[in-house]
Amino acid sequence: MTDVPAPGIERTLVLVKPDAVARGLTGAILARYEQKGLRVLALELRSIDRGLAARHYAEHVGRPYYPGLEDFIVSGPLVCLVLEGERAIAAVRSLNGATDGVEAVPGSIRGDFGTSKSLNLVHASDSPESSRREIGIWFPHLVA
Ligand code: CDP
Ligand code: MG
Repeated sequence: MTDVPAPGIERTLVLVKPDAVARGLTGAILARYEQKGLRVLALELRSIDRGLAARHYAEHVGRPYYPGLEDFIVSGPLVCLVLEGERAIAAVRSLNGATDGVEAVPGSIRGDFGTSKSLNLVHASDSPESSRREIGIWFPHLVA
């Protein structure tokens, strides 16, 4: 039933990052996605190793901030999930807000809950290609 999305419906990979889980914000963040009308297809609390971190953030490996990003993303449990809905990729990016919490508009998750550009609470796929790649990493059974 969950193997192929309905026509016009997208799936996106979301992480509630270790800072958000540690701060007890998981519920508040998931509520925003649900209130928007997105459907949770898969969800799990997971602690990841550096190998998975590097696969997920492959395009960032080698950047000056990558060592800190890797330390952060393996620093504690995170919640990984797949959301499904109308234009879900853009919808979730919009709900999350800009990368830098200071620049993220109030009303967005990053705009409301933080001021950091690195410990910034959430991740979401930025395109259909990255969605497919990332869902394949975290929830391979959902990718045809
Ligand atoms: O997560 P988003 O797609 O908004 O941003 P990105 O540019 O793809 O960067 C991925 C993640 O790397 C960010 O969400 C931050 O956690 C981290 N990052 C950082 O720590 N320092 C930077 N200068 C840029 C990104
Ligand atoms: Mg990104």
